[in-house]
Amino acid sequence: MCGIFGYINYLVERDRQFIIDTLLNGLSRLEYRGYDSAGMAVDGDKKNEVQAFKEVGKVAKLRELIAESKPDMTKSFESHAGISHTRWATHGTPTRQNCHPHRSDANWEFAVVHNGIITNYKELKALLESKGFRFETETDTECIAKLAKYLYDQHPDIEFTVLAKAVIKELEGAFGLLLKVPPLVIGVRTSKKMKVDFVDVEYSEEGALPAEQASQNAAIKKSSASLLAPPDKSLLHRSQSRAFLSDDGIPQPAEFFLSSDPSAIVEHTKKVLYLEDDDIAHIHEGQLNIHRLTKDDGTSNVRTIQTIELELQEIMKGKFDHFMQKEIFEQPESVVNTMRGRLDAVNKKVTLGGLRQYISTIRRCRRIIFIACGTSYHSCMAVRGVFEELTEIPIAVELASDFLDRQAPVFRDDTCVFVSQSGETADSLMALRYCLERGALTVGVVNVVGSSISLLTHCGVHINAGPEIGVASTKAYTSQFVAMVMFALSLSEDRASKAKRREEIMEGLAKISEQFREILKLNESIKDMCAKFFKDQKSLLLLGRGAQFPTALEGALKIKEISYLHCEAVMSGELKHGVLALVDENLPIIMILTRDNLFTKSLNAYQQVIARGGRPIVICNPEDPEFSSAQTEKIAVPKTVDCLQGLLNVIPLQLVSYWLAVGEGLNVDFPRNLAKSVTVE
Ligand code: F6R
Repeated sequence: MCGIFGYINYLVERDRQFIIDTLLNGLSRLEYRGYDSAGMAVDGDKKNEVQAFKEVGKVAKLRELIAESKPDMTKSFESHAGISHTRWATHGTPTRQNCHPHRSDANWEFAVVHNGIITNYKELKALLESKGFRFETETDTECIAKLAKYLYDQHPDIEFTVLAKAVIKELEGAFGLLLKVPPLVIGVRTSKKMKVDFVDVEYSEEGALPAEQASQNAAIKKSSASLLAPPDKSLLHRSQSRAFLSDDGIPQPAEFFLSSDPSAIVEHTKKVLYLEDDDIAHIHEGQLNIHRLTKDDGTSNVRTIQTIELELQEIMKGKFDHFMQKEIFEQPESVVNTMRGRLDAVNKKVTLGGLRQYISTIRRCRRIIFIACGTSYHSCMAVRGVFEELTEIPIAVELASDFLDRQAPVFRDDTCVFVSQSGETADSLMALRYCLERGALTVGVVNVVGSSISLLTHCGVHINAGPEIGVASTKAYTSQFVAMVMFALSLSEDRASKAKRREEIMEGLAKISEQFREILKLNESIKDMCAKFFKDQKSLLLLGRGAQFPTALEGALKIKEISYLHCEAVMSGELKHGVLALVDENLPIIMILTRDNLFTKSLNAYQQVIARGGRPIVICNPEDPEFSSAQTEKIAVPKTVDCLQGLLNVIPLQLVSYWLAVGEGLNVDFPRNLAKSVTVE
């Protein structure tokens, strides 16, 4: 999905080579999000001139294009602002023309990069066209640059922040701009220590105005809803951002790195601040000011400058060939991180700090609805059984898009749990807003701290899996699973009848990491198995039952998305109702047959497959006498508590998908047509 990176140096001399390299490196850190083209705008050789470079394909191709264009790389700038972007096409095909940055006019008076979607762009475009603007692209973004120019031409004395506010007021949708990005992170590097570790938020001063002026302001505000009248700049309160001033009040040399993602910033600085929804950050002459349109909207009046703990090596591949592989192998640690400080396996206690205030309300709710997409949806399905069992609360599991399509009924006494690795998935976010509007209690289970879902939900659990860079979600799945099991354990803490079962599950969780390590030792044999049984196949069937059906679904999704092999997950009990017709001695089949209370029923399906000449590969527990024959192809996984078995069973399937894709020579980390963070409907 689109990524944004900006770099500003103030009183820190940098040549064009440095600036362009910084932007290109920033973009390459965002590559994992998925994109189809990239572009940047930097200052030109003459005053007020802009040089823009745009290219379809990878950041490396943009780098080549820049080299071919031979800009004067030695030209140096004492102060400079550069913006760049990776685009994932939504409005208009991936072409150079549609690449960001987009411009207001041939002189690039306003240049913009944008992440998200402008839903009212057609109306804005029609209006601006009627005012004489000629659009050059098919994008929704272009209207932002043109709108800025139009407003500016009406009010040439307008301050930039006032203009930005007026532009933003007109935009509908979910958008982050340079200009402004939710969630935008700003990294700051100064040579001297900053005076304070926060930045004040500035508001329109409506509240402080005398009545007459306040009503005047209201009138202005009203009219500013039309394009013709941006708010009056005299009504804005201005304060200095103390962090960047010296003792005598003079701005210090400073560099600012702006990105949609901290992973593009950590190599430059650890000092970052996160913007909240509707914040407008204005960087001018070495000062960073944060503005908001209204004062009493419940947000804090400072934005803290934090030190991020993310290390660059955390986002690098290390000894692995692909991020996906690295992330599969990280799972023994990532699940431990999910449980760290939360699961006390000795004293049999679970503490989820982010839910503490709400846990008794959730216990009393009438229904829990899990809402998610893709892999995150599968993790919800995987824990549904244990939630029902431990909490005895009715549980629904919904795909966010379908839930919205149906406009499903939601009530005040519902608890809606939004599960998302990125915390930015558009369908999940829209479903969240839908549930908030209906007064439900909302809980977020997310990986990315500071993501929209984590900010908008009433409470939640961070799964703490660490950055997941491969587009195919792996460690986030197992961490979501573990986090949600802990959630169910917390909810059932007061149930004496469940005490024994809870203890059993906690003991199981405590051993999971070690069992992951055991399974990962199967890596080589799974690689061989893939080459032997699945090479050049057209289709693959995955069978599971009960809690292992979600495992089969997740395995099938992984195989489809990475290796482009058609793979279907079927609930074993449904086999006889149609799918059995597919089974013969040629169709590759994987059956999940670890022991649980449905084992006998699952065996029926196995027999049905064998009877049709099928030769399934079986995921089973070690030394299961049922599968002792040397002819049976097996992947043996350790046994755990039934409701946790899916955590273990999914790992061989992740490895199967990985080796299938590698065997086909495919780009494992960036599968075609997919993006890491799906911020469009
Ligand atoms: C598959 C995958 C996707 C995501 C889905 C939701 O490997 O990663 O199916 O799970 O797009 O994304 P999040 O979890 O970020 O909401």
